[in-house]
Amino acid sequence: MCGIVGAVAQRNIASILVEGLRRLEYRGYDSCGVAVLADGALRRARSVARVADLDAQVRESDLDGVTGISHTRWATHGAPVTDNAHPIFSRDTVALVHNGIIENYESLREMLRGKGYEFASQTDTEVVTHLIHSLYRGDLYAAVREAVKQLHGAYAIAVIHKDQPHTVVGARAGSPLVVGLGEGENFLASDALALAGSTERFIFLEEGDVCELSLNGVRIADRDGNDAVREVRTVVAYGGAVELGPYRHFMQKEIFEQPRAIADTIPQAEAFDATLFGEKAAEAFAGIDSLLILACGTSYYSGLTAKYWLESIAKIPTQVEIASEYRYRDSVPNPKALVVVISQSGETADTLAALKHAQSLGHRHTLSICNVGTSAMVRLTELAFLTHAGREIGVASTKAFTTQLVALFVLAVTLGKMRGHVDAAQEAGYIKQLRHLPAALNSVLALEPQIIAWSEEFSRKENALFLGRGLHYPIALEGALKLKEISYIHAEAYPAGELKHGPLALVTEAMPVVTVAPNDALLEKLKSNIQEVRARGGQLYVFADADTRIVNDEGIHVIRMPEHYGLLSPILHVVPLQLLAYHTACARGTDVDKPRNLAKSVTVE
Ligand code: G6P
Repeated sequence: MCGIVGAVAQRNIASILVEGLRRLEYRGYDSCGVAVLADGALRRARSVARVADLDAQVRESDLDGVTGISHTRWATHGAPVTDNAHPIFSRDTVALVHNGIIENYESLREMLRGKGYEFASQTDTEVVTHLIHSLYRGDLYAAVREAVKQLHGAYAIAVIHKDQPHTVVGARAGSPLVVGLGEGENFLASDALALAGSTERFIFLEEGDVCELSLNGVRIADRDGNDAVREVRTVVAYGGAVELGPYRHFMQKEIFEQPRAIADTIPQAEAFDATLFGEKAAEAFAGIDSLLILACGTSYYSGLTAKYWLESIAKIPTQVEIASEYRYRDSVPNPKALVVVISQSGETADTLAALKHAQSLGHRHTLSICNVGTSAMVRLTELAFLTHAGREIGVASTKAFTTQLVALFVLAVTLGKMRGHVDAAQEAGYIKQLRHLPAALNSVLALEPQIIAWSEEFSRKENALFLGRGLHYPIALEGALKLKEISYIHAEAYPAGELKHGPLALVTEAMPVVTVAPNDALLEKLKSNIQEVRARGGQLYVFADADTRIVNDEGIHVIRMPEHYGLLSPILHVVPLQLLAYHTACARGTDVDKPRNLAKSVTVE
């Protein structure tokens, strides 16, 4: 993954490079570094702590310069130690930062060793740095264009050379890179957000582009080496610090922002129609016979939940697949299937690649459900529905998930209506329920003190099981994911009916079993599953709707959910699971917003 920034200016750019990293930490935070060109020499600072530490180093050592690059790392090749932190140097002459993975780095390394290059890191990045050094004949732009022809894999790079002041060269294939255009100064970054405050004019580089930034201009060559002209777009990216307010962590703040985020995402229209998904949606939706949903992580679970809605409300066959699996398997393309990609960031490498794979197989109609309007995913799909969660900072996704669910519910109702399965009265009922969701969520958030009491016990456990059925099985999956990613407690989720086929063997007094118990058609079945756990001495922690008649008893702890919410119930039931994970992680003292080994946006496969 990683985030990169580059700048050429007539002023000291160190603070722009460091501040850019702060805003790109969502892409990884294993280490960070900055290199500047000053008086004909490359200078560098690197840290395996967070950007604040790098900032202190930069200030203490007066690392000033008018040309420079910086990087925040999510480790792929090589441990997160200083030697592997970018910028990576080649013979104190070339400095380079890289986001992505070079798949043929081993053969390139052997070739470069043969030419006398020594390797000081375990990174795949170092081969690119030496390769550019080996190809340099007085023109960095030309050397990079030659070098990228030899690279296989995904990359976005920014490079400087000690003999070329006021020049930064960038290249991208598979990983994002934007050029920021200033007045007498120019910039590069993984994301426009990194450059907020420096410019609002951006060029989104295309696959295979190489660019050269100088003080007064930008040159771009396309993948065939021809000069290219790219559209300049205005993006007002809000880069200001997001305030924590009364909250301890961004994750907690984002959980509590859900009523607002959901209200902002629900369309204001009195009736839903295809235009909510784009100008061409009516025509596209009319010709489809099924849906293929592709996503990763939490977004995948929103897709799994949507399958229940789409098949029950719109009666349209729906397949949901993990993007990294779909992209590499032989599948049977159905040109009449609408491909739906779901992503908070719109930059997740596997989801992007799965989308491109589907397009290459002849899928014509594509829709993204995404929280970032300027993302690669939104640009690549025919149709789009934007969620309005606002910036999500905590690595563990919360408000992005519930707003995705809202978007997918709107999709199910819209398709149901077009296909003759939702009449005007039903539609009005669904819209009414959606509009009441923010208030219903506030009542669920008020359960926080009871959940804190449970989290104390959970924090002493090393394993947990999550159970759900039907529409709430994906919610159990999401609850288990939340707990494991931020508290590091091993957690697994099962459809409750599957318990007897294996996981019941794990149930002892030491095993908490979290159960999502809505008052729906499967309630009686679920109650039987609860008894199966009790009979084996397991400790049940049940989030039960009113009127389920599930009550506190020996081995069974109950938190009562305020109301049953019909088909929209998953949106309410996930919230206590988010809070349980959050408070358990707090009790264990983990780094909630930046859990170990993870990143917010996964831009490598
Ligand atoms: C990472 C994040 C998750 C997220 C997943 C998919 O793993 O930590 O929170 O669900 O990526 O990201 P996307 O931006 O595509 O929704």
